[in-house]
Amino acid sequence: MGRGEMWGDRALIEGRWSLRSHRIAVLTLMAIGGGIALLSLLAGWAFKAALLIAAGCAWTALGLELALKVRYDKLLRLKLLSDYVLESITRGVIAFDLDGRVRLINRAAIQMLEIQEEKAIGADYRKLLGDNPLILSCIREALEEGRTVEDKEIEHVTPSGRKLTLQLNTAVLSDPEEGRVGAILLMKDLSEIKLLQSRIRRADTLAALGRITASLAHEIKNPLSGISINLELLEEVLSEEELKNEAEIREHLNVIAGEIKRLEELVKNLSRFVGTPAMRMTKLKVNDVLDRVLNLVKVEARDQGISIVRRYAELPEIAGDVAQLQQAFLNLIINAIEAMPDGGELTVETEWSRAEGAIKVRISDTGVGIPPEDQDKVFEFYYTTKEEGTGMGLPIALKIIKDHGGEIDLESEPGIGTTFTVTLPVRGEGDEGEDIGGRG
Ligand SMILES: Nc1ncnc2c1ncn2[C@@H]1O[C@H](COP(=O)(O)OP(=O)(O)O)[C@@H](O)[C@H]1O
Ligand SMILES: [Mg+2]
Repeated sequence: MGRGEMWGDRALIEGRWSLRSHRIAVLTLMAIGGGIALLSLLAGWAFKAALLIAAGCAWTALGLELALKVRYDKLLRLKLLSDYVLESITRGVIAFDLDGRVRLINRAAIQMLEIQEEKAIGADYRKLLGDNPLILSCIREALEEGRTVEDKEIEHVTPSGRKLTLQLNTAVLSDPEEGRVGAILLMKDLSEIKLLQSRIRRADTLAALGRITASLAHEIKNPLSGISINLELLEEVLSEEELKNEAEIREHLNVIAGEIKRLEELVKNLSRFVGTPAMRMTKLKVNDVLDRVLNLVKVEARDQGISIVRRYAELPEIAGDVAQLQQAFLNLIINAIEAMPDGGELTVETEWSRAEGAIKVRISDTGVGIPPEDQDKVFEFYYTTKEEGTGMGLPIALKIIKDHGGEIDLESEPGIGTTFTVTLPVRGEGDEGEDIGGRG
């Protein structure tokens, strides 16, 4: 096998060429046969002999043509099979020759990396994947040193700005006669899995939090009612006269009563967090809810040098609890404002994703950002990096959105900014409230 011959496409091109040149040979053969037959007729040879020569030529030509056609078809079928196999693989596959040119690329790879198919074949890998040094070094090592990587996880940003987590594998491509002839790169998109993992971790936190809060609320409630009853009894036992004289006693009792009220309020709030009160569901317009929230914060934003950009899309109505959704968006927007102490831009964008049957609300800031290692923690109860923070804004927002069947995801880059994306499902008539509605 000559260099490059193992790439099936060349064999196919050559096959097509030999088919074409042989066809010319066949036509020539038939013409010669016909000519001889005509000549022999004109020369007065026997008619039978002429016919025999012509038939012989035609027969040979036809046999040659058929044999070639069968061989070419077989080759074509083999190539189609390998194409189908390649296209059916959900991992991205790219094969490079020793010069680093792309010889083969499947659809998954094209979609994953967002490259143009017609530009890919024959392109130098350094040009095609030039913006990601990690992918480049994996390919270079495989091509130049025969060193491969296994399940290497890297981050990759596509031309449209999608952030992907890719798992890379490389293999050296060799053929028995020539040795190394190229390399293969396999890519698996782990982004979906990563997203699910972080959502599961968050769900765990919420569930654990729910359990702790429920038992805490229960444990506090009983002694509280005991104290409160005894306080009333004490007031009854102390005579009016005594109370008048003992202003001090009155004051102490008031303080105790006040503290009990505070504790009761706390328990009520905690219980509200765990067993959400039945949601007041109405048909609502998400853009209107956002407008109301932005109205609440506009003065503060302006004073802080923050401009507000609205990018609303036409949205279908959804069923939801206006007050709660307002609270959820407010928490996210306040965080965005607090992340830009020296001013910046707050963008609120909405989108109707027909494919997902969901509304997306993106709240972006150009603020301090969240380091990657902290991104999973921000939804934890009491997690805060602010001196005056409570660490309750995000867990409450997440709970409200989850109660609406939705989800919150975040993307952030320290020093650049943060985007929180709220996804809210839009349910069709008849099935609304299926899993909407409080859990309590
Ligand atoms: N838009 C944002 N930009 C940067 N950091 C954020 C943003 N939103 C939330 N955070 C981080 O998440 C933490 C938790 O947020 P939250 O639950 O609202 O509590 P709090 O705002 O009281 O700190 C914040 O302290 C901050 O570190
Ligand atoms: Mg907050």
